[in-house]
Amino acid sequence: MAQNRAINGISPLNTVITGASSGIGRALAVEFARHGHPVLATARREECIEELCEQMAQEGNPCVRCFPLDLTAPGAAKALLDEAVRVFGKVHVLINAAGMSPYQEFSELSCANVRRIIELNVLALTELCHLYLPHMQAHGEPGHIVNVGSVGAYAPLPRFSVYTGSKNYVRAFTDILAYECRGANIRVSALHPGGTLTEFPRLAGQQIKPFARKTMLTPERVAEIAYPAILKGQRVIVPGFANQLAVLLGKLLPFPWAIRLTDFVYRQSMDQVPPEYPS
Ligand SMILES: NC(=O)c1ccc[n+]([C@@H]2O[C@H](COP(=O)([O-])OP(=O)(O)OC[C@H]3O[C@@H](n4cnc5c(N)ncnc54)[C@H](OP(=O)(O)O)[C@@H]3O)[C@@H](O)[C@H]2O)c1
Repeated sequence: MAQNRAINGISPLNTVITGASSGIGRALAVEFARHGHPVLATARREECIEELCEQMAQEGNPCVRCFPLDLTAPGAAKALLDEAVRVFGKVHVLINAAGMSPYQEFSELSCANVRRIIELNVLALTELCHLYLPHMQAHGEPGHIVNVGSVGAYAPLPRFSVYTGSKNYVRAFTDILAYECRGANIRVSALHPGGTLTEFPRLAGQQIKPFARKTMLTPERVAEIAYPAILKGQRVIVPGFANQLAVLLGKLLPFPWAIRLTDFVYRQSMDQVPPEYPS
């Protein structure tokens, strides 16, 4: 791929982003592309990532490529590394943004969805880190690994039991990976968003009330905050004051208080409706 221009003195970083067909992953892809970084965008919906490539090309950023892929399919992580190496040669940034979960009590969750949450939020993310880390170590140029967790990694979220568990995994795993990479030329960040106006709430079955929507960040704002923090190698990125407060309360409050508080906030802010994921 033709090398893009450097902007603000930062060399172009070849960037792979999962979950790039919508929401936070898409906004990060736009943010990186607009700063002159070549992006390989992946998700299942080919038409959405192609539309992203076309939009970027029209803006004069022809360096966004797309690679449609179901990350829960066997061999998907390896296929994504192979494609990235074919397109870029060297990958400098891996952003694991793909994630999903229905908003349902554990007893309501289908077996298929329990499996999907763990396969996507935990297994695919871990396998990608496991493959991209040695690739970055081998080429020796600066590397960044970014795992998207959630405020739910700090504050327990009722009706998101498996999801909260998966995001606690992302938090712990990413923290330890960052520690293990401390002497290397690879920076590891965890991006923990809170409620964000993406497809996630609708797919999950959260009908957000209008007043609560006003308190949520747009994915574009999350990406705008995250981009410089990622480049600085900030280890933990929590975008927005309300989300930082939620993280602080999650750390300070005893669990029974924290979960009652989030349950109260959730019940005021949204109605539970059937999720749009296939069961
Ligand atoms: N929105 C929030 O309130 C919020 C809050 C905290 C944390 N987060 C986290 O932020 C991350 C991004 O979520 P979002 O809010 O941007 O949600 P979103 O708009 O629903 O985006 C999720 C992305 O994941 C992709 N994806 C889903 N299943 C996949 C699969 N099997 N294989 C490959 N890609 C798959 C989707 O693309 P396809 O459907 O095209 O495959 C989509 O691009 C997630 O990790 C989520 O847990 C979101």
